[in-house]
Amino acid sequence: MKYYKLVLNARKPKGFWGKMMIRNMNKNHYNVTGWGLSHYDFKKSDIALDIGCGGGRTVNRISSMVSKAYGIDYSDLAVEKSKKYNKKFIKKGTVEISQASVSDLPFEDNTFDIVTAVETYYFWPDKLNDLKEINRVLKPQGTVLMVFEMCRTEENPEKWQQVESLINIKSVTEQEIIQILISAGYVNIKTDTVKENSWLTATAQKP
Ligand SMILES: C[S@@+](CC[C@H](N)C(=O)[O-])C[C@H]1O[C@@H](n2cnc3c(N)ncnc32)[C@H](O)[C@@H]1O
Repeated sequence: MKYYKLVLNARKPKGFWGKMMIRNMNKNHYNVTGWGLSHYDFKKSDIALDIGCGGGRTVNRISSMVSKAYGIDYSDLAVEKSKKYNKKFIKKGTVEISQASVSDLPFEDNTFDIVTAVETYYFWPDKLNDLKEINRVLKPQGTVLMVFEMCRTEENPEKWQQVESLINIKSVTEQEIIQILISAGYVNIKTDTVKENSWLTATAQKP
């Protein structure tokens, strides 16, 4: 029951179990996020955006490597918790958190050098168009970096079945992510996996 209530809050954290889930994600996504972020060479001059920022730990981490880091999430609670987690940097002006959907990003075209998305893609309502929306806000040659903990392989096609049916999402395959990034207009697509953990990272550039 506890597991069920917790997992249900991965989609859009709210209330008591949402708070628990956010705490859980900040802790449990730390290693996979660190591995994922190592696939991009962050520069001090970069402007970064983290989509589906959850509890805000990834924005916090990125902010020390770039000139400014933004985070967006469509959950009220995630925005509140991300703001709290990044209080110091928000005050300093190096972090900004706002409430928004990936489908309608409140930013001008060609704004970001790097857009990250950790463990959030599964929930997006219109994945192809959402990736196009990210493309819009990236600068030319800017990079999108997506990190997944639920990668399905031929050796392990049913690994995620229980959680998939519980929260009505689908795990991803490496090939499917490459294909959708191509369809959304990205180039220089690179992927990396840690098969024993089912981790996948994909990076791709706006032409
Ligand atoms: C599993 S949590 C991951 C949070 C964080 N990235 C992390 O790794 O700890 C997924 C997050 O994506 C957010 N999210 C899901 N769909 C979204 C959408 N369409 N637009 C913006 N945020 C979304 C949820 O509110 C939630 O905070």
